[in-house]
Amino acid sequence: MSRELVFSRFERFWHWAQALLVIFMMLTGFEVHGSYTLLGYEQASDLHRTLAWVLIGLWILAIFWHFTTGEWRQYLPTTQNLMAVVKYYTVGIFHAGVEHPFKKTRRAKHNPLQRLAYLFLKLAINPLLWITGLLYLFYNDWPALGLGGLSLGPVAGIHLVGAYAMLVFVIAHVYMSAFTAHPAFAYLKGMITGYEEVED
Ligand code: HEM
Repeated sequence: MSRELVFSRFERFWHWAQALLVIFMMLTGFEVHGSYTLLGYEQASDLHRTLAWVLIGLWILAIFWHFTTGEWRQYLPTTQNLMAVVKYYTVGIFHAGVEHPFKKTRRAKHNPLQRLAYLFLKLAINPLLWITGLLYLFYNDWPALGLGGLSLGPVAGIHLVGAYAMLVFVIAHVYMSAFTAHPAFAYLKGMITGYEEVED
């Protein structure tokens, strides 16, 4: 085992900026939906629409980074060791002395379950929010864009489904990343400092 830089400066910036933006998108989005009143509808709607562009900008930057560095390979799905990892998180973690079956290396820093979850986020949840969000944003231009046949109800409904999926992802991600590490908070510290204990 050795202590190595696993998360580059850009990766940490992208991770925490995305986390902040997603939290604000959820806070403002669910207020627009009418779930509660915090900022007031007008302000929540304005903030949601403005931050959407910042989030889209960040996603474009991150996609560019993943492809130019080759780090997109970290998300290639694999079934190797997948069931062992699922068994660890559902059973083993509650018993003393059971070790995590996945040993992190610099070249494979996500376990098979993380690979699947992050790939699903990138290929399903994000595009769903992005596409329906852009449609929502340009609602007034639909006839000019040749989208006059669309109706707002289903678009808003799918956007909302994406928002709930994002909420479930965030809760699961915070639990897995912040509260299941040994030693405590090791994953969280890794995403702050960039350094983690990895296999050579
Ligand atoms: C983490 C990402 C996001 C979350 C959690 C989220 C959540 C939500 C929710 C819950 C609503 C209310 C839906 C309804 O009841 O009709 C909403 C509305 C909306 N969202 Fe999002 N959204 C996200 C990303 C985006 C993106 C990327 C865009 C634009 C590209 C966008 C544009 C909009 C627009 C224009 C509305 C309508 C606002 C209004 O009525 O003033 N959203 N969003």
